[in-house]
Amino acid sequence: MTLLLAVTWDGALWERAFKSRDPDLRVFIHGRDAYDPAAIRYAAVWRPPAGLLARLPQLDVIFNLGAGVDALLTDPTLPNVPIVRLVDPDLTQRMLEWVALQVLIHHRGQLSFLERQRQHDWHQEGRPLADEVQIGLMGYGALGAAVARTLRGLGYRVRAWTRTPRSADGIAMFSGQGGLEPFLAATDILVALLPLTPDTHGLLDRSLFARLRRDGPLGAPVLINAGRGGLQVEADIVTALRDGTLGGASLDVFETEPLPPDSPLWDAPRCVITPHVSAESDPGAVSAYVLDQIRRFEAGRTLENVVDRDRGY
Ligand code: NDP
Ligand code: OXD
Repeated sequence: MTLLLAVTWDGALWERAFKSRDPDLRVFIHGRDAYDPAAIRYAAVWRPPAGLLARLPQLDVIFNLGAGVDALLTDPTLPNVPIVRLVDPDLTQRMLEWVALQVLIHHRGQLSFLERQRQHDWHQEGRPLADEVQIGLMGYGALGAAVARTLRGLGYRVRAWTRTPRSADGIAMFSGQGGLEPFLAATDILVALLPLTPDTHGLLDRSLFARLRRDGPLGAPVLINAGRGGLQVEADIVTALRDGTLGGASLDVFETEPLPPDSPLWDAPRCVITPHVSAESDPGAVSAYVLDQIRRFEAGRTLENVVDRDRGY
């Protein structure tokens, strides 16, 4: 089996992870190794150069080494072979840890306690119980559903919004444009775990923030986005944090990454910024996943988690 690695990360690290699981696998790293394009049947990629995959005439499957395929799908020359995206317990666990942490930070008022600590200010302030707080999940896919279970385990009330109608025990479900208003109207903490598609681009804007619950137990609603930066209008987030439309935000993804040093988001009030690390792809876990999918494919079984290009995720 021959695999081409085309990643923006440390390719040698990924090569070692693959080879440690399958010493017979032939691995080429794009940009480092000379290779015959016709020898490549599998490509494992993260943001590969546009046009690269079209130059591999025997390519059978593309493995996207992250969950989101928005960047990959911008390549107009992408060959018409299955794209398998990453759905993996390791990635999911990392994401639910990050989301739970951010929810707790805002719910328990931790940013204000940290601020008072800097001022040596002993100030007791009560917080609502988790079951008074309504979490609104935008996206109830591999990540959203796992996050919902975790947050419910912590005692939060959870509602979710999806593109197509879905049902889930104990979770109020909403879908489509018609479901958006009622979904937002009772949401105290909005958690975006949506893919970036033409439909979701710029969705998190001022008008949407203004439709979140205003008389909830937190005083003002909170935005948490770990989906994609393209979902959010950053100028609107800054304004909304300054004028109190939003009581807080936690952002892991940005319109431009790295977030430019002069972005006003860095200094926006009650805003937590992490550098796209909420759920990093772990080479050990992800190489096992890819090799398992290759074995399925070679045995004539169906690939899992194949991207629907028309939907865009
Ligand atoms: P899934 O494809 O499993 O789930 C996507 C969910 O979003 C589905 O519930 C889908 O609805 C919903 N959705 C898509 N389009 C719309 C729309 N127009 N309106 C309403 N709902 C919509 O994805 P994952 O859960 O695996 O991942 C979600 C995203 O998280 C990824 O695409 C990626 O961008 C991001 N991500 C970010 C990471 C980070 O490090 N920050 C790490 C990993 C992922 P339906 O159920 O109807 O299909
Ligand atoms: C992503 C990922 O899609 O890291 O951002 O999986």
